[in-house]
Amino acid sequence: MNKKSTNKVALIGTGFVGSSYAFALLNQGVTEELVMIDVNKEKAEGDAIDLKHGLAFASPMKIYAGDYEDCRDADIVVITAGANQQPGETRLDLVEKNVKIFESIVNSVMESGFDGIFLVATNPVDILSYATWKFSGLPKERVIGSGTILDTSRLRYLVGEEFDIDPRNIHAYIMGEHGDTEFPVWSHTTIGASNLSEIVDMTEKETQEKLEDIFVNVRDAAYHIIQQKGATYYGIAMGLVRITKAILRNENSVLTISGLLEGEYGQEDLYIGVPAIINREGIRKLIELPLNKTEQKQFEHSAATLKQVINQTF
Ligand code: 2OP
Repeated sequence: MNKKSTNKVALIGTGFVGSSYAFALLNQGVTEELVMIDVNKEKAEGDAIDLKHGLAFASPMKIYAGDYEDCRDADIVVITAGANQQPGETRLDLVEKNVKIFESIVNSVMESGFDGIFLVATNPVDILSYATWKFSGLPKERVIGSGTILDTSRLRYLVGEEFDIDPRNIHAYIMGEHGDTEFPVWSHTTIGASNLSEIVDMTEKETQEKLEDIFVNVRDAAYHIIQQKGATYYGIAMGLVRITKAILRNENSVLTISGLLEGEYGQEDLYIGVPAIINREGIRKLIELPLNKTEQKQFEHSAATLKQVINQTF
């Protein structure tokens, strides 16, 4: 798939999320080449120049504004383009507008001869990842949605705050739709070296309320931030860099992304947030966590919500 010795990322969409991603990519020295593509080419050019002015403080990187043809030899095409939520709008409200935009973007990328990995971030991300897989005709392993990577990070941060432990030592997952029907997998939550149930009494009302509070904060985080500043972008940008790194460095990292289910969790023909092993091939494997009854039900509800949108849209 990749015969070049350097890594190249093509970014489509240089709005808040895309430009924050580019900035994080440069700061973390993840790739040797970044081409930035936007319907507003002037904006992409401005961003590229602005970023290049930081090169004296970062690792060498070729950065430029380009066109769809530049995707041809990219290892990863990251899509952040599309309409974003306005205050009060859900992610699923964006579906019609953004599926149309994606049809044209993905077709243009494929016309370039691109044969790498798609990483999709635009909302509703599970539906648009499915759309990208359909429109591109690429194997499912090579179409990845950012899924619940950000929600999982939000959860780890809040659990870390609550128990006063470094979020990097919290293992916890948000699964399902990146949206209103997502859910926390408390049965597989590890804090430091201990399972959550060894630390707190899960049958206590107070504990249950505390955990519910944390989860609601995670689920509704984007609504609050959008009210406050119009959009969210730093967190998701860092999540996208995390996935990019896992791919380009062949890390075999376990990350909650949106992938195509083919029987896992009793579901098929939809993209949804699950933990997965990510490496140079894209999605090496979706991990099938044994969920408890409540979690399995929540998963089914989330999957049914996405399935309904898929059936109406495709
Ligand atoms: C977020 O969760 C809006 O999906 C975006 O921050």
